[in-house]
Amino acid sequence: MSDDTQLNETLAAIDAADDADALEAIRVAALGKKGWVSALLKTLGGMSPEERQVEGPKIQGTRAAVADAISAKKQALDDAELEARLASERLDLTLPAPEKPSGSIHPVSRVMEELAEIFADLGFTVATGPEIEDDWHNFTALNMAETHPARAMHDTFYFPDKDAEGRAMLLRTHTSPVQIRSMVENGAPVRLIAPGRVYRSDSDATHTPMFHQIEGLVIDKDIHLGHLKWTLETFLKAFFETEDIVLRLRPSYFPFTEPSVEVDVGYRKEGNRRVVGGNGDDPGHDWMELLGSGMINARVLEFAGLDAGKWQGFAFGVGVDRLAMLKYGMDDLRAFFDGDVRWLDHYGFDPLAVPTLSSGVGERA
Ligand code: DAH
Repeated sequence: MSDDTQLNETLAAIDAADDADALEAIRVAALGKKGWVSALLKTLGGMSPEERQVEGPKIQGTRAAVADAISAKKQALDDAELEARLASERLDLTLPAPEKPSGSIHPVSRVMEELAEIFADLGFTVATGPEIEDDWHNFTALNMAETHPARAMHDTFYFPDKDAEGRAMLLRTHTSPVQIRSMVENGAPVRLIAPGRVYRSDSDATHTPMFHQIEGLVIDKDIHLGHLKWTLETFLKAFFETEDIVLRLRPSYFPFTEPSVEVDVGYRKEGNRRVVGGNGDDPGHDWMELLGSGMINARVLEFAGLDAGKWQGFAFGVGVDRLAMLKYGMDDLRAFFDGDVRWLDHYGFDPLAVPTLSSGVGERA
């Protein structure tokens, strides 16, 4: 077979190769150690210089033609394979999800969503504030002076360094500083809730160093305790999905409210579980302390830059983890933060089932 015929046959075979393996076999047969092009190259050694001058470029031309054809074909095969893969792997994002998404919504997140839904219906906005706070917002502006025993009572996590204004930095011990931030930023009137994480140096079966609170704040010109009681009753009825909510307001003391009230709710026991509802004085019932609240202390309004002669309002603070435990029947707070998948599978919520008032905010999907 003449060299030209062999070259033409090889080029035709390369052209016809329909996968990488076929192409590789052709490459080995031509350019491999024992390939015919390699054999041709070896003949150069036995040639006279004159012969080599004529044959050399021809043989090198053959080698280059084969090598170029192979690499061009390889590229074409790769391109075709990529095309095919892209076509077969196409994702139609308009299709519905084939199965339920994995993962679940943590009960704490779920309860915060439920509370936002309930309070949005009452015209409240949702506000947030930083978890790393300064002691002015967390204590001083809430009428807890430098020497106030409540500052120690809270057993606060302090940072070693002060901020640029010389204020001590800390992990906020409650959501109440969001009251101050919102009044300073937006003035009055106000109607907000502020859910979030809070921190105290405390750890046992019923206390974790991080937990969740939700703060409520309402300021207007003629707000009184009756509004507070109605708001709490309305919120608790919607949250626990029962009309049978009876509250007991007890005089108490918080530096940021005057008067201050602690709010108890009637409940009964079912086995080990506390079921919210009913009058705590009725047989088989009792009272349970649920939240702190009161009329905002005039000093707090003034710290936040509001005219206390013009504005007044109420505030409340309630533990979100506690609300979740009461509503959904968990009994160990620490399990909330263990990240145990079995616990989350059991107590978690379907991510697609968003709480709505019309379906009952607590509906389990
Ligand atoms: N900040 C209080 C705490 O963490 C809870 C609280 C009590 C908040 C009374 C309030 C309030 O807004 O009025 O214990």
